[in-house]
Amino acid sequence: MRKKVLIIIVILLLATTLFSLFFFLNKEDDKSISDLLMEEGYSDNEVSLILDKVAEEDYEDVLNLGYDKSLLGILSASGYDESKFNNYIEYYVKNKDANINDIITIINSRYDLDNYPASALLADLVKEKYYINDNVARYLDYGNSHDIGAKKIISLVNSKADLGFYSESYDSVLDDNNLILVNKFYHLKEDYMPSDLVSLGGQYNRGANSRMRKDAAEAFMKMVDAAKLDNIILYNMSAFRSYDYQDNLYNRYIKRDGKEAADKYSARPGYSEHQTGLCSDLNVIDDSFDGTDEANWLRDNAYKYGFILRFPKGKEDITGYKYEAWHYRYVGIEAAKIIYEDDITLEEYYAYYIEKISD
Ligand code: DAL
Ligand code: ZN
Repeated sequence: MRKKVLIIIVILLLATTLFSLFFFLNKEDDKSISDLLMEEGYSDNEVSLILDKVAEEDYEDVLNLGYDKSLLGILSASGYDESKFNNYIEYYVKNKDANINDIITIINSRYDLDNYPASALLADLVKEKYYINDNVARYLDYGNSHDIGAKKIISLVNSKADLGFYSESYDSVLDDNNLILVNKFYHLKEDYMPSDLVSLGGQYNRGANSRMRKDAAEAFMKMVDAAKLDNIILYNMSAFRSYDYQDNLYNRYIKRDGKEAADKYSARPGYSEHQTGLCSDLNVIDDSFDGTDEANWLRDNAYKYGFILRFPKGKEDITGYKYEAWHYRYVGIEAAKIIYEDDITLEEYYAYYIEKISD
């Protein structure tokens, strides 16, 4: 009997000791991080900030930094996100002199910028909607040697204009269908001709090159019909042009104005999107068309039918061509809306929505 009582007492003693030990150790843990931070030189308030803003599994990283005013700056910055603590610290350690807000902006936007030091320019770039991570080196190169803003840098680099027109040549991707890109970098083969060309007839056409791809032609007629209801008369003057036709045209222009001038308004054979059968020169093919009611109607409404003004004013350095108020390109309603609303070119749309592999 006494033996039994003794065993129970021993068990009770053991349980109480274990329980107290467990409780005590846990408390010690809490205490120890605060103590350790204090030992590093952090004040009571600073310790509270750290405990409040850093997850427990990241305490070790904080301690490894030692006392660091910038760490406190990161934790107090607006936009600080606890789940990105490691990314901020990793980036900060490599960029100790960088502005804290720049670091926050850069990391909040992208994390995989290990090779690119933080800078105000980079912070501006990553904030832009059409920023593409794969292009970051070219953005920074171009931005550091040209006095232009982040948005323009991104437009030019995404459209490859920083490389120089006709400096590189790729095959246009036929599978892109209505979104196919043909410009001073992407070209069509000599024998390429769309298989679904249809002729625009009657009121819809007054030109010799009257063929368009089926979807584009249908959208074109819808657009012309809608314009008519607004008392605007539109018609095609030049739609599909074969490689040979463009070859002739371009060479005629060279003879007349010289190559440098011709390249500003005429595409080289294979590089004209007229060969896609997806575009039309409407009404009047010269600068007198600009500012007319017809041109204004097209500028404001064409996107509703899937057409875009392909060579806008002020975007010559992106498209490589002077402003053409009469040249409209079919891309489908979805893309046309984005291009119109975001005021971008097909080049920029293509880079971001079609060509970009990773973000
Ligand atoms: N005028 C346009 C750029 C062309 O020749 O295709
Ligand atoms: Zn044209």
